[in-house]
This record gives sequence, C-alpha cells and structure tokens, in this order.
Amino acid sequence: MTMIKCIVISVLLTLFKIETYFSKTAIERIINDGYPAESHHIQTEDGFILEVHRIPGNKSSKGVVLIQHGFIASSESFLCNGAHVSLPYQVYQYGFDVWLGNFRGNTYSRNHSSLKPDSRKFWDYSFHDHGLYDLPAMIDYILKYTKKKSLHFIGHSMGTTALLVLLSENPKYNKKVKSANLLAPVGYISNSISPIVRLGCPLLGSTYFQIPNTFEIFQQGTYLEYLLSHNCQDDSCSLATCRLILSLNSGTSSHTNESLCNNILETNPAGGSSKQFEHYCQWFRKGAPRKFDYGILKNQIFYNRTIPPEYKFEKINVLIYIFYGNADYFVTPVDVKKLLHRLGNKVKRVIYYDEGKFSHNDFMFANNVDTLVNGVVLENILESV
Ligand SMILES: *[C@@H]1O[C@H](CO)[C@@H](O)[C@H](O)[C@H]1NC(C)=O
Ligand SMILES: *[C@@H]1O[C@H](CO)[C@@H](O)[C@H](O)[C@H]1NC(C)=O
Ligand SMILES: *[C@@H]1O[C@H](CO)[C@@H](O)[C@H](O)[C@H]1NC(C)=O
Ligand SMILES: *[C@@H]1O[C@H](CO)[C@@H](O)[C@H](O)[C@H]1NC(C)=O
Repeated sequence: MTMIKCIVISVLLTLFKIETYFSKTAIERIINDGYPAESHHIQTEDGFILEVHRIPGNKSSKGVVLIQHGFIASSESFLCNGAHVSLPYQVYQYGFDVWLGNFRGNTYSRNHSSLKPDSRKFWDYSFHDHGLYDLPAMIDYILKYTKKKSLHFIGHSMGTTALLVLLSENPKYNKKVKSANLLAPVGYISNSISPIVRLGCPLLGSTYFQIPNTFEIFQQGTYLEYLLSHNCQDDSCSLATCRLILSLNSGTSSHTNESLCNNILETNPAGGSSKQFEHYCQWFRKGAPRKFDYGILKNQIFYNRTIPPEYKFEKINVLIYIFYGNADYFVTPVDVKKLLHRLGNKVKRVIYYDEGKFSHNDFMFANNVDTLVNGVVLENILESV
C-alpha cells in the first residue's frame, strides 16, 4: 500500500513539476564529509557554463583524476557512500587531485552565455555534445589549471560514452588521457532490458515527442526530494521508492547497499535532455553507435549521407580498463562484449562482476564498493601513473 501511494505521488509530482526542494549541494556534502572542496565554472566552446567540483590535492599530488557521472546524474552521485568509501575520497586519499565533472543540463550546469533552460534550444544536445564540447572544455581547463599534460579518467555509464565519442571524434585528446577506467561502459545498448529503455524509447519515438521538440527530463528537485521530505518520512516508503527507481534503469541487485537510499534519492536523478535519451534509443533500435539520426533529409544536410556515420572507436588510443556487471539492465554483458571487440588491444584489463546480481549502479552503490570497485580502479590508475 505504502509503495503504491509513493508511486502515485511521485508520478503526479513529476508530471506537474510541483515545488523544487534541494537538499545539500555537492560542495556542502564534501565539506561535511571532512574534505576540502572547490567549485570551478568552465565555459564550453558553444556557451554552456559547467560547474565542476574539485577535492584539491596538494602540489606533490600523484596526478589529476577526472571522475565523470552518467545519464541523468551529477558529481554528487559518487558522494553517496559517505565520508570513507566514496570513490572520489578514496582517490583523494591516495594522493590524487580529484575533479568531479558535471555535464551541461544537470543540476549544476544549467547556465549558458545566452540560452535559458526554459528554451527548447538549451536542451538540444546529446552525449555527442558532452563528448565534443563538455569533456574537452573540462579537460583543457583542468590541465591548464594544474599545469599537467594529461589526466586519469574514471567514467560511469554515459560518462564513458562521452569519452568514447571524444576520443574517436577528436583523437588529439588521446594524448591528454593517461588511463580510462570505464564503469558499465555504454558503446552498444541494443540488448538493453532496462524498463526505461524498453518502455521509454517507444514513447519518445512517438510523434508527439519528435525531435526537435527537445525538452528537459528527470529534473532534480521536482519530485523525489519533495516526496521524501514532505510525504514519505517513514523508511519503508523511501526504501520502496528507492528500489523502484533503481530497478527501472539499473537492474535488480543483490549488492546495492540500501542504507544509502536516502542519499541516492536526494542526489538522483539530476536531469538531462530528451535528445540525449533519444540518441541512446536510436542505438537501442538500430544497434550501431552512430551519430544522431535526424531523418533522411536532414541527415543529408548534416552528414552528406542519409544514414548517420558511425563513431570511429578504432581511433581511441588510451589505456582502457573495463568494468561490467552480470545483472546490468541498461548495458548488458552482451553489449559490453561488442564494445570490447571494437576496442581490441586498447583494453588493458577487464573486470567482470558475476557474483549474485551486480547491476548498473552498483559501481557506485554496492556494499563493500571500496574493495570491490574503488580498490581495483586505484590499482589500475597506480599502474598507469
Ligand atoms: C601532499 O601529498 C602527498 C602525497 O599524497 C602526501 O604524502 C603529503 O603528506 C601531502 N602533504 C600535505 C601538506 O598535505
Ligand atoms: C550565468 O552566466 C552568466 C554569463 O557568464 C553570468 O553573468 C551569470 O551570473 C550566471 N548565472 C548564474 C546563476 O550563475
Ligand atoms: C558528399 O558525398 C558525395 C558522395 O559520397 C561526395 O562525392 C561529395 O564530395 C560529398 N560532399 C561533401 C561536401 O563532402
Ligand atoms: C552501507 O552503507 C552504510 C551507510 O553509509 C555504511 O555504514 C555501511 O558500512 C555500508 N555497508 C557495507 C556492507 O558496505
């Protein structure tokens, strides 16, 4: 009963975008957890202003690490595990200078030199643009600021897609990335069994939602936080909502630490664009990782061909570490294997989680994430310093 009430309230609040309630900011979380924190504003070539968070390592730090969140997430997604075992803190404690990226359109990156988030044009972007504009802006800024030549990249989900796009489209960035730890990497999703993809894609593909009718999806603060703070104070309610939300995209898991649920719901989802989602849907429907499909006529204008070109993953040339789980609904093992095949000998190590059910978000939220995931990531970075 409680669960049904929660779902109904969530859906209503989402539809009508009732009230905006924000919990702590990422900076407040980091400081609360006992670490130094800075925010930096970085403008992309096409005018978006990204707020990037930093846990500044000292001058003799071992190197710079950029951690990049996934689909409809933010820099805060990696802070949910609290003061000791959150990935950014562990990397910091090993002596690295840690930067947490935020893609355009999420909670922290809703500013632009001329566009406003209430315009359709603001939301006219995909992970293609995260790869072509957001990542290079962040990487160049960070390297300039820290006077380094290259950095280590850790990405989850769409953060990995953006890196694959960048390194194939603009191969000079291969030199600026020393190592790439890719958690639940998305280069193919045609075998996805995530309900968000299976149910959302047909809906998005229907005439009403046709691109260029771009709009914001899953904005933070519109329902979940409100729900928790005003309607859902008992634990069973938030746990039920949490399980539901997680299983919608990530998969049902036997590893997720459910005591993190409040943190997870406070920080996720953090907003994105319908075009970004539609682009994944195109990969889901058609199989190959191609550029955005605008339809035959417009493709001819944009790409000088009727079918959009594929991303050239062959141009990627950095040390890659791939992590994937057996119960990931969004990017299934079959799809990760396709990507592995494309990347060939660039992949230095593959870590496959097949104990119990290991889901998409368990790379952030699993029990014992410190040894299970973070420790392995750190080992990989340390061997490629
Ligand atoms: C700076 O970082 C190095 C490497 O992690 C560490 O050994 C040293 O204690 C740090 N110094 C200060 C002043 O924090
Ligand atoms: C957004 O960016 C503009 C242009 O740089 C700046 O003037 C403005 O203060 C920013 N607004 C917010 C809310 O950060
Ligand atoms: C467009 O494609 C045609 C056929 O592949 C080619 O001959 C032509 O040079 C291309 N035009 C441009 C502007 O790239
Ligand atoms: C689960 O998360 C809680 C809250 O952060 C933490 O105290 C606990 O140690 C975690 N459990 C495991 C097994 O990692």
